[in-house]
Amino acid sequence: MTRIILVGYMGSGKTTVGRQLALALGISFYDLDWYIEMRYHRSVAQIFRESGEAGFRELERNMLHEVAEFENVVLSCGGGTPCFFDNMQYMNSLGDTVYLKASPEVLAAHLRMARVERPLIKGKTNEELLAYIRESLREREPFYSQAKHILDVNLLDNYEKIETSVRLLRNELGV
Ligand code: S3P
Repeated sequence: MTRIILVGYMGSGKTTVGRQLALALGISFYDLDWYIEMRYHRSVAQIFRESGEAGFRELERNMLHEVAEFENVVLSCGGGTPCFFDNMQYMNSLGDTVYLKASPEVLAAHLRMARVERPLIKGKTNEELLAYIRESLREREPFYSQAKHILDVNLLDNYEKIETSVRLLRNELGV
């Protein structure tokens, strides 16, 4: 039974790499944010607006417990998922966790394009975005680092490199 769980900051490529990895392994792919949106018929941004971050985190934990029980899957979770409750411990108890690790500069470059739909970074200037990433990555790193595997994805900026990351990941996981 294969259960691979990808963690890491927003913009680290969890969804992109996760989808390709699942495709290569011929197993299902789940993205926790998408799953939440499908189950609740509300976007993540809408949930943040209506229930606040605390409300979102409760719901995120419940949905993690639902999805993480599925077998033969690759699951990419949200950037904050490992940092609340005992989520990281829970994920480690269920499968092969992988931290997709990238520098604040690389993350900022990826996120410049996708600020609007992410409530935590919406409306920030480029300088504010980089400062925010540096600060919150420092807080989150201790959680992400508890993953069983770490993959450096700093070079992940085009399709060829995504394929390389998937190859490295398969090698690391032995799948
Ligand atoms: C969040 C990351 C988002 C989403 C929500 C909060 C975070 O997921 O869960 O906006 O706290 O870092 P992605 O990492 O998939 O963008």
